[in-house]
Amino acid sequence: MTETGRTADWAIGQVARPLPAVGPEMPCGRVYARMQELGASAGLAVVQDGCPVGLAGRRRLMHQLAHPVTYALYENRRIALVMEQAPLIVDAATSVDRVTELIATEKVSALDDGFIVVDAGRYVGVGTITELLNLSVEKARSQIHEIDAARAAAERASDSKSRFLANLSHELRTPLNAILGFAELIESGTAGAVTDKQAEYLGDIQNSGRRLLTLINDLLDLSRAESGRLELHAESVELDILLSEAHRTLMPRAKAKGLSFEIARHAPLVIRGDEQKLLQVLLNLLNNAVKFTPEGETVRLSSEVAADGGVALHVVDTGAGIPEGDRARIMEPFGRGRDQATRRAEGAGVGLALTKVLVEAHQGELALNSEPGVGTRFTVYLPPARVVGPDPVNGPGDGPGMAAAQGGGYTGGA
Ligand SMILES: Nc1ncnc2c1ncn2[C@@H]1O[C@H](COP(=O)(O)OP(=O)(O)OP(=O)(O)O)[C@@H](O)[C@H]1O
Ligand SMILES: [Mg+2]
Repeated sequence: MTETGRTADWAIGQVARPLPAVGPEMPCGRVYARMQELGASAGLAVVQDGCPVGLAGRRRLMHQLAHPVTYALYENRRIALVMEQAPLIVDAATSVDRVTELIATEKVSALDDGFIVVDAGRYVGVGTITELLNLSVEKARSQIHEIDAARAAAERASDSKSRFLANLSHELRTPLNAILGFAELIESGTAGAVTDKQAEYLGDIQNSGRRLLTLINDLLDLSRAESGRLELHAESVELDILLSEAHRTLMPRAKAKGLSFEIARHAPLVIRGDEQKLLQVLLNLLNNAVKFTPEGETVRLSSEVAADGGVALHVVDTGAGIPEGDRARIMEPFGRGRDQATRRAEGAGVGLALTKVLVEAHQGELALNSEPGVGTRFTVYLPPARVVGPDPVNGPGDGPGMAAAQGGGYTGGA
């Protein structure tokens, strides 16, 4: 059998020993003597007109010539009658991996006898399993070296990206904070009376400034998370308080938009995590729900003990829903829905990407269920290891425990 797959790197030709071949008419006794002379560890190629026709395997020949009786029988017999007639023949350019595969799957006898290496069908040398293994080990070493070098380069690139972002955000935050501070000062009247129009503009400056500040902080967190440098505080967080805080913060916006904003009565659970980051997760999801849900519809926040003892936090809205084709891209940084109506709403498309990494940093999962025209449900699932007690009472979740809070404050626990 001849294998001629061409591979530039780690080709078997590198380890073929260019041992002189023998002719098919040479007697076995002489072939064996030649093997001893040459120190051939596997066998010698039997070649006619430059092309291999068989392989004289060392072990087989030794066996046949070992005993004085059989020696006499074989000594003068032509090697062509005794040789392996279908040895493994591989092209010099065949990769070491391919030769290993061929030996393992098709020509196990090559483990003892070796294999013949050819170039364009002409004899080049004999290869043995030892040389093959040496080359494989060398290849593995070189690959490990390459992987190490690539990882070091990636780490360097990621370090300099993180440093760049950290510096940039510092450079942006400092003047931005000054702008916000001055706007507040002017608005307060300290620097002289402010007209209604001026107060309105000052309000715009502050809103835009705050939005920019949030975006900068979000991007910094995203890049930290990407390079595994996001630091989480490990605190005991009372779920009740966390949800109430999120509800309280978003209520004015929901109210202003004429939405019904409900919060479910939930179990008095304590979880372990970073309180600020978990609050940010809920605020990002609630912000979206409020932003993308039209007037008169409903947004609901609820918690539930999952079947495995983990905890699920749901943010549900009865808004436009998210089309199937948008669901992967909106989880990516700067990914926004393609729909014109949602595109008109302000935003950079960073909220969900950050939410996802924050949840995953807590070993949790962010799940999305949505039906266009019906609504959207985002679920933050935190595993049982994040629940520290008190023993979860199976909370009421959605259903009768849900308290509507149209325009009102927190009514959970009612
Ligand atoms: N509850 C929802 N209903 C409908 N579409 C949603 C909802 N939540 C998210 N989306 C879609 O997902 C996109 C990405 O959301 P994401 O929070 O990442 O960005 P954003 O809200 O547009 O901007 P940012 O959060 O950076 O201010 C949104 O632009 C919107 O198209
Ligand atoms: Mg958002």
